[in-house]
Amino acid sequence: TAQYAVFGNPIAHSKSPQIHAHFAAQQGEVIEYSRILVENSPAAFQAAVQDFFARGGCGANVTVPFKQYAFDLVDELSERAQAAGAVNTLILLENGQLRGDNTDGVGLVNDMVDNLQVDLRGKKVLILGAGGATRGVVLPILAQQPDSLIIANRTQSKAIELATQFSVQAASFADTAQLRPDIVINATSGSLNGELPAVSENIFSETSLVYDMVYGAEPTPFLRHAQAHGAARIADGLGMLVGQAAESFRLWRGFAPQIAPVIAAIRAEMG
Ligand code: ATR
Repeated sequence: TAQYAVFGNPIAHSKSPQIHAHFAAQQGEVIEYSRILVENSPAAFQAAVQDFFARGGCGANVTVPFKQYAFDLVDELSERAQAAGAVNTLILLENGQLRGDNTDGVGLVNDMVDNLQVDLRGKKVLILGAGGATRGVVLPILAQQPDSLIIANRTQSKAIELATQFSVQAASFADTAQLRPDIVINATSGSLNGELPAVSENIFSETSLVYDMVYGAEPTPFLRHAQAHGAARIADGLGMLVGQAAESFRLWRGFAPQIAPVIAAIRAEMG
């Protein structure tokens, strides 16, 4: 059986093994996909990755806090991993070298386009946060040809820096009172603890979709807040999680799984 794994810390609650088992079933094959807990240091990460591939590993995912270490470790990078500054997918090349890719942005876009059936083309998109999560999705969003993409961040200088790099617009949280985006994406890490970014409530009034990269059994506090202030539709990040996994699976195994049934199955398991 082909062996895959996800490296992270913590990793015990990762849903990737279940997700990839669903994909393999769609392909009519069986794979092994394990969770590997690694001590948080570049040396420990490198040793764990080398050990995994030395023992016959076929490909791996990388999650928090190792995506930058993986970026530094690989022998070659995809363009989108380069732009993201982070690697979430390790691909074993025929010459034994490792290629780093980043499927997070495609995961988000595929969830929106294929699963939620929301077209980004011509839309005004506002993304909250200017950290790694935002950096990872900017290029795939731009590839959908939105009308505009605005990055708003609590620390405005970081929004400006990122927006300059990708030639998009930047805003402070105070500026958001003037914005009437079609789509809002929350990529702030505070959302993991239920902290609401201090943006204007006005931004939600004309949205067709408000998306939170965080997910849970219940709508996140951010999504409930958005709904209370006029968001027509909300979606959490479970679809992005399944979407990034699907793109990794495709890169490793040349088979593009359907994501909607897997999102539904994992959602049902969350109760
Ligand atoms: P990640 O890789 O998850 O994006 P990161 O690179 O540490 O993590 O970036 C975290 C992002 O979430 C930043 O944009 C941060 O805002 P600042 O740049 O102002 O720190 C944002 N963030 C975290 N907690 C937040 C909160 N409570 N309200 C608003 N933004 C928050």
